[in-house]
Amino acid sequence: MKCFSILLVILTGNLSLSLGQRAPQNPVENVGAESCRDCHEEMSFAWEKSAHATSFEELAKGDATKKMAEILSIKPSAIPTTVSCVRCHYTQETLASVAQTTAGVSCESCHGSSAGWIEEHSRKSLSRSERVDYSTRLGMAHPDSIHKITKTCYECHVVDDEQLVNMAGHPAISDDFEFLSWYSGEVKHNFLVQKAGKKTKSHSSDPQEIPQTRKRMLYLSGKLHHLAHTLKAIARAKDAPVDREGKFVRLENGQYTYAVQHALVVEKLKKDFDTVQQKTSIPQYTEALVVLRGLSLQTGNQREIDAAAARIEELAGEFCEDHSGKEFAAIDSILKGLEPKFSDQ
Ligand code: HEC
Ligand code: HEC
Ligand code: HEC
Ligand code: HEC
Repeated sequence: MKCFSILLVILTGNLSLSLGQRAPQNPVENVGAESCRDCHEEMSFAWEKSAHATSFEELAKGDATKKMAEILSIKPSAIPTTVSCVRCHYTQETLASVAQTTAGVSCESCHGSSAGWIEEHSRKSLSRSERVDYSTRLGMAHPDSIHKITKTCYECHVVDDEQLVNMAGHPAISDDFEFLSWYSGEVKHNFLVQKAGKKTKSHSSDPQEIPQTRKRMLYLSGKLHHLAHTLKAIARAKDAPVDREGKFVRLENGQYTYAVQHALVVEKLKKDFDTVQQKTSIPQYTEALVVLRGLSLQTGNQREIDAAAARIEELAGEFCEDHSGKEFAAIDSILKGLEPKFSDQ
């Protein structure tokens, strides 16, 4: 890792949002998780048990939250309505003309705000496949798009708010975050079955296995998105990561600062890319490594790092368009070790 240039660490309390960060959803455009339940019962039950849903009740009560709230001068009870937390932790909708927080991370956090498509999606005069096609065209994030759905996860899971990490001690990214594991455990709610010869899918009461070709695509596109989002986050770093003696600064919780935590992820991802490239050759991986080689991860280098992030996100899109996963049997030995992630609550 390259060293950073500025030597003074300035921790300020500015929590305002700006370009490049995950935008909060507009409460007017959300209809809420309860609006999906009637037609998607199995998915709703599965979601209810996940930390995405249970944190709605739990987050504001936790000791870690209380400590963060104190540092940020927010009342813990105000966390569920504070935009800088809501944009990643909660779902808001507008009820009786007032924006209200009605769930944790929920259906629309991942499938997109649905006010613009729920009507077509629910229209009984259309065939099921038409309903899905029309709503996808109107903005529903359909999970068939590996690119879109992968990007959605990383927008929240790579934390893009420097002061939240440096000042309040929020994790920059979970220690054991491995995309395919996190995707295929408690978050998974695929109960639809495509039977050969049938146009529409049928419902099963058992969650379905993710096909191996799709797992390969998820793993490989996940790495590209992870890199793109981490670079985007680094581009936003302003605090100097080293002290006067040139040593990496440690935060009160023992972690390195935001920029360094993310820069270490870049180092790890480079190794993951190399491991993949030893087993198979992916043009978008080759190019991403070239982009990285020419890049200096210094604070103040925002424009260049942002451009690299944008290029790598494009490569992720191209990768998903160009491949089906059939061609990557060579990485199955990597995937074998990745256990589905369930939170320990
Ligand atoms: C009035 C019924 C109805 C409501 C309400 C509804 N859906 Fe659907 N949805 C369907 C039907 C029917 C399909 C086609 C698949 C099937 O047969 O279940 C579908 C398919 C989907 C799919 C794609 C599945 C696939 O593989 O094709 C997603 C994603 C989805 N719905 C999300 C949502 C979300 C999120 C909400 C709430 C904001 C919602 N739906 C509300 C009826 C509904
Ligand atoms: C960019 C998205 C993002 C923002 C903004 C955000 N969080 Fe988080 N937060 C996360 C994710 C993702 C996790 C889960 C990390 C994990 O599982 O390790 C998390 C975890 C937490 C935890 C658990 C941490 C722990 O040590 O166990 C707390 C507490 C928390 N967030 C509070 C907040 C508060 C308070 C705010 C607003 C001031 C906030 N978060 C804003 C994404 C975000
Ligand atoms: C954390 C993000 C996330 C949340 C929250 C979420 N989904 Fe999904 N949803 C996904 C992903 C990812 C898939 C594709 C899973 C796969 O690849 O097997 C999916 C698949 C689906 C499908 C298609 C299932 C199938 O068998 O093909 C439907 C329908 C759906 N979700 C509806 C919902 C509803 C309703 C909710 C809320 C109760 C919800 N989702 C919450 C991410 C999410
Ligand atoms: C809107 C922001 C957001 C999106 C989108 C999102 N997550 Fe999360 N996720 C969170 C937050 C916040 C937590 C922590 C919840 C808590 O424990 O308070 C979390 C927790 C989790 C957990 C539980 C982790 C643990 O330590 O228990 C898993 C697994 C997970 N997310 C996977 C995913 C996957 C896979 C996707 C995409 C399909 C996704 N998430 C999309 C915000 C998000």
